[in-house]
Amino acid sequence: MRNKSLKEFLKPLPRISVSLLNSDLADLKNVVQKLESAKIKVLHLDIMDGHFVDNLTFGPQIVKSLRKHTRCFLDVHLMIENPQKTFKEYIYSGADLIVFHYESLNEDDIENLIFEIKQNKIFCGISIKPKTDVEKIFSYLKLLDLVLVMTVEPGFGGQKILFDCINKIKILNEYRRDNNLDFLISSDGGINEKNIKEIILLGCDLPVVGNAIFKHKDFVSKTKYILSLTKRIKYNI
Ligand code: DX5
Ligand code: ZN
Repeated sequence: MRNKSLKEFLKPLPRISVSLLNSDLADLKNVVQKLESAKIKVLHLDIMDGHFVDNLTFGPQIVKSLRKHTRCFLDVHLMIENPQKTFKEYIYSGADLIVFHYESLNEDDIENLIFEIKQNKIFCGISIKPKTDVEKIFSYLKLLDLVLVMTVEPGFGGQKILFDCINKIKILNEYRRDNNLDFLISSDGGINEKNIKEIILLGCDLPVVGNAIFKHKDFVSKTKYILSLTKRIKYNI
């Protein structure tokens, strides 16, 4: 177990986590170095297995290779079936935070997986798909470092945000305050310069941004611009 909470560990809070999914995956080393030059501290790595979601991305080998080239905090989002079978590979590869999906394993196994991840001195989060009620994860919140609210159906970058999901951020923020907890709230999918302020004001501490950055050729300027927007907003936590 870590002796610090994720909130303490990341202080000052990094503001955004950049999803590399829609970046030039053949040039990851350079992409990451450029993001670091824009003062990005957290990278969001989308692991998809072609079963839990229709898309297929990369596995632990790429995480391991990337780890050699960056000191960024690696936020690993597992969109895979049976994460309990392979999560250790991502830990050995250098993940700092493992986020698995509530929907990807039996409810009876969830607590166990949280403990196993945290036993490895790695931070642990749970993600919920748009159709999953946020109340389903209330009983785990005291054990978690982060909750990742999906604001698109997981599988692909560049989708439009589903605004119906963002109320979950508000509910989690209120639950956190009322129960004196300090897990972080992250949200993922369709976040851009137009909606990021609203997301943060609802209580999101770590918005994930992907396509809104990488659809631009000059993604470094776009990253700096989006970061500058977040600096004017008061975060909840
Ligand atoms: C979707 C992924 C997201 C996605 C975010 O399944 O989990 O991380 O890449 O990217 P944008 O910002 O493009 O929606
Ligand atoms: Zn993701």
